[in-house]
Amino acid sequence: MFAIAIDGPAGAGKSSVAKALAKALGFAYVDTGALYRAIALFMIENQVDLTDPEAVSARLPQVEVGLEYGPEGQRTLLAGRDVSQDIRTQEVSMAASRWVAHIPRVRAFLLDLQRDLARRADVVMDGRDIGTVILPGAQLKVFLTASAEERARRRTLQLDAAGEAADFDQVLREVAQRDRQDAAQLEAVPPDAVRLDATELSFEQVVEKILELARARMDGAGGKG
Ligand code: DC
Repeated sequence: MFAIAIDGPAGAGKSSVAKALAKALGFAYVDTGALYRAIALFMIENQVDLTDPEAVSARLPQVEVGLEYGPEGQRTLLAGRDVSQDIRTQEVSMAASRWVAHIPRVRAFLLDLQRDLARRADVVMDGRDIGTVILPGAQLKVFLTASAEERARRRTLQLDAAGEAADFDQVLREVAQRDRQDAAQLEAVPPDAVRLDATELSFEQVVEKILELARARMDGAGGKG
């Protein structure tokens, strides 16, 4: 199996880039943030105290989280229910980033699930710790960054396009907050990762660069698989 790990801070464009790569290569795209978000949603819906790691950990055995792949891409399921939209709210983002992702038992709970997905298919997997912890043997590791201002600028445009009033300074503060909250996972950049700064590159340029790297390594490995 061939695995591409894409790590980096929120808003650098990891998911759009990973989706485009998966499409171009015929790989499965795995958005691992969705798993943390689904656990956060479960805890919110069940009124579990997110600030209490013991309480959250104790409920994990009841969390039936899964990813499903169809023509529209990845769907996130919670006990069979499609929560792909419900996990995108600001409340869930903050709960996942601030609390859930920091609980060691949550990270351990998701470890096997993520590894299992990469055993079953060639994948492009995006997250924070894919190249370091989840798939240390990934054939290609990319650390995708962009300046906080650029990430906030893109997010503001997205929110505007979605018809939600967005104030750049407010969005920039939120980006900085997410960076602080995700710092523990982001500090560990794998030494064998290719660092790409998307601040000055277009989306197409980023995708093209990673495709070139992937193709070179697939050739080097004697083809995929
Ligand atoms: O990528 P995202 O914004 O959907 O991720 C939601 C949160 O989950 C993010 O704040 C950090 C956490 N996360 C993580 O700790 N490790 C991952 N592999 C993916 C996400």
